[in-house]
Amino acid sequence: MPQSPQPRFRRDYRPAPYAIERVDLCFEIRPGETTVVAKLSVRRNSEVDAASADLVLDGESLHLLEISLDGHPLDEARYRVAATGLTLLRPPASFELRTVVRISPENNSALSGLYRSSDTYCTQCEAEGFRRITFFLDRPDIMSVYRTRIEADKISCPVLLSNGNRVASGDLEGGRHWVQWEDPSPKPSYLFALVAGNLRCHRGEHTTPKGRRIELEIWVDPSDLAHCGHALSSLKKAMRWDEENYGLEYELDIYMIVAVSDFNMGAMENKGLNVFNTKYVLADPATATDDDYENIEAVIAHEYFHNWTGNRVTCRDWFQLTLKEGLTVFRDQSFTADLRSDPVKRILDVKTLRAVQFAEDAGPMRHPIRPESYIEMNNFYTVTVYNKGAEVVRMYRTLLGRDGFRKGMDTYFARHDGHAVTCDDFRAAMADANETDLRQFERWYDQAGTPILRAEGRYHPQSEIYELDLEQIGPQGEPLPEGRAWHVPIAMGLLDADGQDIPLRLEGEVDASAGTRVLELRRARQTFRFTRVKDPPTPSLLRGFSAPVQLRSERSREDLAFLMRHDSDRFNRWDAGQTLATSVLLEMAGQLRNGVTAKLDPLFLSGFEALLDDTAAEGSWLALALTLPDEHVLGQAMDIVDVDNLHLAREAAQRELSELFGARLTRIYADNHDATYSSEKRAIDRRRLKNTALRYLTARGTSASIALAWNQFEAADNMSDSEAALAQLLDMDTPERDRALAVFYARWREVPLALDKWFSLQALPQRIHTVARVRTLLSHDDFNLSNPNRVRSLVQAFSTRNQVGFHSSDGAGYALLADVVVAVDAKNPQLAARLSTGLSQWRRFDGRRSKAMKTQLERIAARPQVSRDVFEIAGRALGRMDR
Ligand code: TRP
Ligand code: ZN
Repeated sequence: MPQSPQPRFRRDYRPAPYAIERVDLCFEIRPGETTVVAKLSVRRNSEVDAASADLVLDGESLHLLEISLDGHPLDEARYRVAATGLTLLRPPASFELRTVVRISPENNSALSGLYRSSDTYCTQCEAEGFRRITFFLDRPDIMSVYRTRIEADKISCPVLLSNGNRVASGDLEGGRHWVQWEDPSPKPSYLFALVAGNLRCHRGEHTTPKGRRIELEIWVDPSDLAHCGHALSSLKKAMRWDEENYGLEYELDIYMIVAVSDFNMGAMENKGLNVFNTKYVLADPATATDDDYENIEAVIAHEYFHNWTGNRVTCRDWFQLTLKEGLTVFRDQSFTADLRSDPVKRILDVKTLRAVQFAEDAGPMRHPIRPESYIEMNNFYTVTVYNKGAEVVRMYRTLLGRDGFRKGMDTYFARHDGHAVTCDDFRAAMADANETDLRQFERWYDQAGTPILRAEGRYHPQSEIYELDLEQIGPQGEPLPEGRAWHVPIAMGLLDADGQDIPLRLEGEVDASAGTRVLELRRARQTFRFTRVKDPPTPSLLRGFSAPVQLRSERSREDLAFLMRHDSDRFNRWDAGQTLATSVLLEMAGQLRNGVTAKLDPLFLSGFEALLDDTAAEGSWLALALTLPDEHVLGQAMDIVDVDNLHLAREAAQRELSELFGARLTRIYADNHDATYSSEKRAIDRRRLKNTALRYLTARGTSASIALAWNQFEAADNMSDSEAALAQLLDMDTPERDRALAVFYARWREVPLALDKWFSLQALPQRIHTVARVRTLLSHDDFNLSNPNRVRSLVQAFSTRNQVGFHSSDGAGYALLADVVVAVDAKNPQLAARLSTGLSQWRRFDGRRSKAMKTQLERIAARPQVSRDVFEIAGRALGRMDR
């Protein structure tokens, strides 16, 4: 790093001095080199002073071949070229700039800008990749109309795609051809896309409520053509859902999706031409699990929903990223909840939030959903911006109600369609549409960290009043300074002794509301008084996880066990069970630390037993309720994570449950096992429940359970069952383990997405020494540092989903991760930076582990060639940068 990279600050936002109204691009694609001819119609903004108005265009890894202004070659004295861009010195008020640059997609391993994935040329411009294609004002508030001409070889690149409509095409000499595209809607450069390659199309169509017919095209490698059906039907469902729920239609005549195998993220919402990771497009029952099907449906919907929340209304600057991402994640979460199961989806989302976002919020990478500064924007595509951002949007809906929220959305679109706006604009639309004051709600945007919510209840038998004291404090338990309290919606209910919700009537109210109601906590402390409460109730707080806070209330294990049985809110019923299990498992870990045998609390056992008997419960919900909190979540409840004893405690608990309830688990397994695959919801529920039973049944490693897992593996006609069985076999010391692994490899070695699972599965086992195996796999013929899916499937799975393996006390896991970060950083800084976050929590581990993690971080950061992506992550993790 020649010079320490400098941060950008939100407060420094200024409009650009020039607008770029039209962009005319021509790509000449040739093996080894591509030239890009760009004609930009530029106009100085009227309020800008001509004397100070140099035009600074961004550019990166571009080789400038020609430059002219209004048709005349530009004199060298009138511009300057640097490593970060091109400056035009005092250009006229209005002009056409023409540049010709050479770029090299074949050598672009960063997967940003124009690059090659397998044999396909494709682009990724968000956040700042367009500047790697041509010189431009590469910022989202510059919205322009694009025309794109692509020229390439006809045999190797028969398909040439870009945004908008295909308006003309023709042949050229030398076996080449061209296509001309026009995108009528002005867009920011990050939504530009181009694809050229040998692809096949899976076609469909959709008719909007207004009766407009839209062509749907999914473009994939010819060998994948049979696996696009699920993606297409997901797209149609998403279109219908947005029409029905928000009255939003797609406005172009064609919607294209392209699947590529080398991609840094899940997918990209480029206008009219989404580019997807193959992982979120291709599916058939033999290679994709039920979870994969659900994820594909969600990502397809997410990118489609961006057409309104992101593309038509876009972000003024990158500090506003949560404006489009938080909102669009919230929309895809609602979609999945509607199509599948509301409580199950809520539980899954909150699990991610707590496991990943709460950890980010509590560590050195902490930032508000609208950050104040960044060095490398790509590092800010975080769970905080996305998932906590979605929680913030959800709170508007909880506070304003569904109708109020919809009114706010309508106002937002009516005001801002076609514009680049801010999070404040969104909040203002919500407030104005509902004639309410949401000023305090800004704390959710400008304050980092997870608030702590303390709750304490008191029952007064004489007056029949139940008093609920609520207090909010800062993430570290500090009292909040004046004016820093959050505006927190708290959905709650009170249960009577039979477990029924009682009618709720706050002091001074005449009518009672039945069931759940939403309290608004605005001050640091507030007391709510419920009247005419006949008997001492059991409170159920934060139903549906109505706010992203940490609830601390002194609840007895009896109360938790009671809620685990009776709460009418299925999220809170699950949550009570998890809270009880956490308390019990932490106690067991403590016993193990002191050399005492650890046993499960009978209260938990009877709660677990009641779940096993709940034959009416939805299978996917029950599978989650029967699963113990994972080791990362348990670790978060400790100041210093006791890696080994948490692992032993959880294992002991699973074995004990397996012993005590073996007969019932066997029955659940048998009752829910289907010989043939179906994609119906009911079949998915049954598979999830069955595979949860399998996990317990194999916990003791009996030969009967090995046979059960092996038989399931051998007979499975779908990936959910095959993967679940193999995962269990891998955790057991038996010859079937290696046999199954070999069978799986032989079957799937030619199918990348399935082979990714083979790598992941071997990174996850906890009962054997996994670091060595992962190290060996790094040298496997099928391992490839250039393919992000493959790297993530092995290395990220290991570092983020196997606590006891990754944190092996000799530090071998950390050294492995750091080695991979260093090797990947030379090719793909974005991916390397993401991997390196696995070391950021070093302060939360014991002395030896902590030191080993820190040493690796220092090693990564100290290299002279470190990218700014990794430099920023490692620097922040080491506490060398303030926020
Ligand atoms: N906007 C994309 C989404 O959320 C995210 C994305 C795709 C992205 N590729 C990227 C972000 C590359 C940064 C860099 O749907
Ligand atoms: Zn998105």
